[in-house]
Amino acid sequence: GRCVVAVDGPSGSGKSTVSRRLAVDLGARYLDTGAMYRAITWAVLRSGVDLTDAAAVGKVAGEVELRIGTDPQGYGVTVDGTGVDQEIRGPEVTGAVSAVAAVPAVRALLVARQRELIAQAGRIVVEGRDIGAVVAPDADLKVYLTASEAARARRRSAEDAADVAATAADLARRDRLDSTRTVNPLRQTDDAVELDTTELGIDEVVAQLRELLTE
Ligand code: CDP
Repeated sequence: GRCVVAVDGPSGSGKSTVSRRLAVDLGARYLDTGAMYRAITWAVLRSGVDLTDAAAVGKVAGEVELRIGTDPQGYGVTVDGTGVDQEIRGPEVTGAVSAVAAVPAVRALLVARQRELIAQAGRIVVEGRDIGAVVAPDADLKVYLTASEAARARRRSAEDAADVAATAADLARRDRLDSTRTVNPLRQTDDAVELDTTELGIDEVVAQLRELLTE
């Protein structure tokens, strides 16, 4: 039957790894909403419009054709038919994504798309910042993953082969922007299960979530 799992939390909390693994275990689809914000950001940077011009950013977002797969073992993102999986993880996009994600028109567009993808999938693990609060408030399970700032910076810098101090600074900057924006800030809902993954391995986190789903 239908099963929607919402996984929210800040960067480096283990959201992506845990969400993909859980989706594979459940035989469910997987949606990386951060990849959608990153793909729109890539399109905005390519267009050359001023990032602080919300109307122009919203216009670009409305005009591009964004496609995202939901196979947890091989999903891909395209913008106007171009694969952008590598590009959206680069420093230019990472540096601009929180500003683009704060534009109300961008959020309205992507939240609507995300709800369509969830309805189509039926069984799906969705990860992001506003999934439990806004995108899927009726999710069967809401999880809020956290970890210490040091652990988050260590994990993310290992993934990106980047400097730990620079990564820590970038995470702190994005956390601040993501949790203070006026539209749909990063937020834990009262009905979300909070899991601190600082001392937990991926297997343990996935096992705990599966346990919660069978309750
Ligand atoms: O790098 P990390 O995995 O932390 O981020 P991501 O999940 O790829 O998301 C990148 C950015 O997109 C975040 O820093 C937020 O600004 C934005 N985002 C959002 O606003 N709402 C979501 N549901 C997902 C991502």
